[in-house]
Amino acid sequence: MNKDAIIVGGGVIGCSIALKLAEAGLKVAVIERGRVGCEASRAAAGMLAAQSEATGVGPFFDLCLRSRAMYREFAAHLKDASGIDVEYKDEGMLVVVLEGEDVKESTRWASWQAEAGFPLERLSGSAIGDLEPGVTESATGAIFIPDDHQVENRRLMDALEVAIKRAGVELMEGKEVTRLLLDRRRIAGVACGSEHFNAGTVVVAAGSWSSALLEPLGLNVEVIPARGQMIAVGGRPCPIKRVLHSSKVYVVPRRDGRILIGATIEYAGFQKSVTVNGIHSLLGAATEVVPILKNFEMIESWAGLRPDTADHLPIIGPTGVENLFLATGHFRSGILLAPITAQLVAEGILSGSVPDELKPFGVERFRRGTSADTDPKVN
Ligand code: FAD
Ligand code: GLY
Repeated sequence: MNKDAIIVGGGVIGCSIALKLAEAGLKVAVIERGRVGCEASRAAAGMLAAQSEATGVGPFFDLCLRSRAMYREFAAHLKDASGIDVEYKDEGMLVVVLEGEDVKESTRWASWQAEAGFPLERLSGSAIGDLEPGVTESATGAIFIPDDHQVENRRLMDALEVAIKRAGVELMEGKEVTRLLLDRRRIAGVACGSEHFNAGTVVVAAGSWSSALLEPLGLNVEVIPARGQMIAVGGRPCPIKRVLHSSKVYVVPRRDGRILIGATIEYAGFQKSVTVNGIHSLLGAATEVVPILKNFEMIESWAGLRPDTADHLPIIGPTGVENLFLATGHFRSGILLAPITAQLVAEGILSGSVPDELKPFGVERFRRGTSADTDPKVN
């Protein structure tokens, strides 16, 4: 096999990049050790929570807003390319303040967003019922964010799988990349055990498992798994129309009638167990927001590993090894950030220069003044 580009990892990030590159005419392969989307990308809640999960202004917030703005078209393009509807639901999100919480404190984020001109609406406790009658009557206020939406991320992964195959991407599932191959200071391909695959460019999009591939090259990039436990419940009629957040939980209604409840954020290594404590706290927090959920049926529970980094920001861009790119560390926002990541990585690969928007997310930020400033090792 001799490809223009090999993508390591068939999650939402790897598949979105593969699609963009294949549509630009490159010969691309995705190598995935399990099945497409089998890790964080299928475990996610699919929220496009650019504003409701924002921690402040800056390049990351800008990246999230840009990607959110691309989503309607991204979803439509995937529908055309795969025939699969990824269920882009555009009802906005509601962040609910519960009794006993300090409204000012818990909605401080809304003040800087409102001052900066981002759309949101403050609702009094009594007005919440008009929008979402299923929310507890004891809620004291809420913020409605009209532009934060959701997609069905399992369908998103199904659509990406079909779309990349139709675009000519060679998808190799059940194959683990064990080593990155260098030719002097340039990437030459990847090894899967004794099999070698050559490529002009390699993109490591291996989510929480990215560090292990980079370490042998002297690239000490720490990507840390952050476990998220989730539950799906079901019942009729669905008591909510849109995604709800409280300070402890989010609740996501799907078109098929399931309601997702998520998620914990835990640093428990690579264990994907669902724990009694996790389920107990999620159910308690969700039924506080939507009391009727107490009567609903438990359908499913699962856990996934978010790829986190030391500063909780993604690592996207070149590595110092010629033609080796990274696209990982998307932590809580990989579904949201897939279209913009794919566009900018493809732009960087095709033009040979790093787009300005990616500069704050380069791997160099972890290397400044450390031993990792040394040249990459050659194998
Ligand atoms: P992954 O989906 O983990 O994919 C990496 C892939 O690489 C895996 O399939 C793995 O098998 C493969 N791989 C690893 N090593 C190798 C190797 N050596 N060789 C071959 N293949 C390899 N984000 C949002 O935007 N909105 C949300 O609402 C949201 N909710 C979330 C809820 C939960 C519970 C969790 C866990 C995450 C959530 N996220 C959300 C975050 C989002 O899921 C991740 O940021 C995103 O899926 C990361 O995508 P990825 O492709 O980088 O990683
Ligand atoms: N963005 C939702 C989560 O990571 O749980």
